[in-house]
Parts: sequence; structure tokens; C-alpha cells
Amino acid sequence: MSKESKGERSKKLSSESYKGVRDFYPDDKFLHNYILETMAQTAERFGYVEYGASILENSELYEAKSGEEIVNEQTYTFTDRGDRRVTLRPEMTPTAARMVAKKKRELAFPLRWYSTPNLFRYERPQRGRLREHWQLNVDLFGTSSLEADIEIISVAHAVMEAFGAKEDMFAIHINSRAFMDHVYDFYSLSEEERYTLSKLIDRKNKIEKERFVSDLQNILKDKADLHEVFLRFIGENDFSALPEHCLNHKTKRELDKILQDLESNDIRNAKLDVSIVRGFDYYTDMVFEVFDTSPENNRSLFGGGRYDDLLAIFGEDHLPAVGFGMGDVTLQDFLETHDLLPTTTSPTDLYICVLDKNVYSWAHTTASRLRKEGINVAIDYTNKKAGDQVKTASKLFIPHIICIGEDEVENNTFTL
Ligand code: HAM
Repeated sequence: MSKESKGERSKKLSSESYKGVRDFYPDDKFLHNYILETMAQTAERFGYVEYGASILENSELYEAKSGEEIVNEQTYTFTDRGDRRVTLRPEMTPTAARMVAKKKRELAFPLRWYSTPNLFRYERPQRGRLREHWQLNVDLFGTSSLEADIEIISVAHAVMEAFGAKEDMFAIHINSRAFMDHVYDFYSLSEEERYTLSKLIDRKNKIEKERFVSDLQNILKDKADLHEVFLRFIGENDFSALPEHCLNHKTKRELDKILQDLESNDIRNAKLDVSIVRGFDYYTDMVFEVFDTSPENNRSLFGGGRYDDLLAIFGEDHLPAVGFGMGDVTLQDFLETHDLLPTTTSPTDLYICVLDKNVYSWAHTTASRLRKEGINVAIDYTNKKAGDQVKTASKLFIPHIICIGEDEVENNTFTL
């Protein structure tokens, strides 16, 4: 064997995971399970049922409607051995839409579906953004009624409450793409102006005010008379800058109705926010995003909206749909910020510390009997001192311990 290949063989592998994906040690797994189970239970309380799919999808699924950024810059895409282009799912909505389209005739509508898949996006890992995250998806297919929009926002609100969040800890910001389109129509904005304006709105909170003003004036350079209106409307979220005609339009009245109904359902932390546009191209109407209100973590936690035309990419008739996606990473930051993390517990009920090798077989028999009764039992075989064995049990968060030696077995008495 050459020196070189010997050297290669002895080279140590890194124990780091691939950048931006997740390892779950048991305490992390405990928290992760708690998050996903709480999400799932809340969705089920509203009558949603679980579906699932593979992480691999044909790449063309995302090219149709997801939006340029996600397709060109953020997907993990490769060519398989049969020359097909394959993508690791970056979101679940196209998969859900595909599955609904495939069995549309057999499914009973309105369809309430939820899922908690892991998703992959090639992003620069940072707080709240990783390359792999899990996302609760809650979607309601087959009804265009405002009640469906209200229900979806109510589920999002209920999920937050299920994690112990109070209304002052988060805020629901709502807008409507259809309403924005109406305003743009009213002012006869060109396609180009609308597009660049939407991108500016999306960037608004990340740039200086002066920059925002100059960008807006630049986008509307041929329409100086509109600068004032749009600076107030978009820059300051001041709806009163708009004329009566826009404020009385159906799309705005619908937004008002959503807010009113939420309030009558005791959801009081929702408000209109023109800066909510959301990234994906498929949204058609109501869109919303939920923000953490803490100054320490003042950021968007998750969002969703109505997407009535997505099924049309499968050649299906128009099928209205509304839903949201809530990520586990941003949620975990929220729970940490507000001190809402649960205390770790172990699935193991009892730890048997064995103080004498002669009683191992007794420990086995007792553990087997208890397991048959439904009690989860682990035995310590290390033969370490009692104190060390007890320390191990508490490090593992096991709530009950018995220590056994020859005396205990002889007297048939144990301390729990
Ligand atoms: P999205 O806004 O791209 O929407 O993602 C929803 C949520 O997933 C985000 O607000 C965030 O909580 C989480 N998320 C997204 N990307 C990452 C990342 N790189 N790292 C950590 N968390 C992330 C959608 O995906 C839509 N498909 C949601 C939807 C369902 N709309 C209707 N139904």
C-alpha cells in the first residue's frame, strides 16, 4: 500500500453534520417531539387529518409556481441515474396540491389536511434559518369562503396558545394580494411597477427609511403625483391614504370582515399590515404572517395565505385552498425568548441501580415483570458506586430510581 493511501485511510472524519441540517440528541428530540406533537394535536382539534409524502419530488413541480428565488437559489436539485431532475422538497404546498389533484374525484371536500414534514432549502444558516427545518402545514381545500380564511388563522392562533403563548407575545399581520392588485389597478401601475413595488415592500423593514423613500420614488418615477399616497400607504401602513373607492372595494371589505370575525372569536392580536406580501407566487388573496412581539426576537415566525389557482398547474379546475406553514426553528426561538420551553422528561419510568453483581438476575426478572405492566425500566450494569448510578439516572431525566443489593433482595423491601 502506498504511503499516500495509508495516510488517507488514517485521516479522521469530521463528526460535524452537513452544514445547516439537524442532529437530534435525545434532549433535542424530546423538544422536537413536543413541538411536532403539540402542532399535530392542535390541528386535529380543528378536524384536520394527517398526510405525508416523500422528500423527493420532480423538480418541475416547483418551477411552475413557487417563485424564482426558491427555485433558482434555494433548492437542492440533482439529476438521478435515469436523467430525471429531482428536488428535495423545499416546501410542502406543491406536494399537497399535487396529491389533492391526483385524487380529486375520490376525496371529500372541504378537505382538512395537515402534515409536519422536514424541508430543505439552500440558505445561509443563521438565527431562524437553517438548511433543514420541520414545518407544520395546515391546509383547507375546496372552499373559497371567508370562513375558511378565518378558520386557518384561528388554527395558527390556537397552535400558539397550545404552546402557552399569550396574545401580547405575538401578533398576526394580515393583508390581501387581491386588495393590493385592486389598488395597483386603480392607480394604473404597470406590471413592472407592481413587481418592483412588491419587492420593495418585502424589503421595507430591512432598509433605512431614506432608502425606502428614494427607491419608491424611483419605481414611480413617471408618477410623481402618487408618491405621497404610496409613502403613506406602504411606508406607514396608513390605509386612510387611499381613496374611498379602494377602501370600499370588496377585497378590502373582506379583509375587514376577517378581522371583525377573528375579534368575535376572541382573537384580538390581528391587524392589517400592507407590508405583508409573502414570497411565493401562488398566493392569490388573503396572506398573513405571525410575528414575535418581543424586542429580543422581533421577527416573522411563520405565515400562509390563500392560493386558489395552484391546482390549475395539474390541469385541474380551479380549486380554492388556504393554509399556512409554521417552522420549528423560528417557533423554538420564540419559546426560548418567552420562557415557554417544557422541562425535559424521559420516556423511562424507572432506573434500577444494581449494587451487587449477584442480584443482576433478580433485577432482570423484576424489570421484565414491570415492563409487562407497562412500566419502562432501565437497569444499570456499570457496577459503579450507588451515587454515580443515581447521578446517571438524573442526567437521563428518569423520575424514579430503586437501588438494589443483596440486603434488599433478601428482605424484599426497596426504596423508590
Ligand atoms: P414560507 O413562508 O416559505 O411558506 O415558510 C413558512 C415558515 O417555515 C416560515 O415562516 C418559517 O417559520 C419556516 N421556514 C421557512 N424556511 C426556513 C428555513 N430555511 N429555516 C427555518 N425555518 C424556515 C411556505 O413554505 C408555504 N408553503 C406555507 C404554506 C402552506 N402556505 C400555504 N400553505
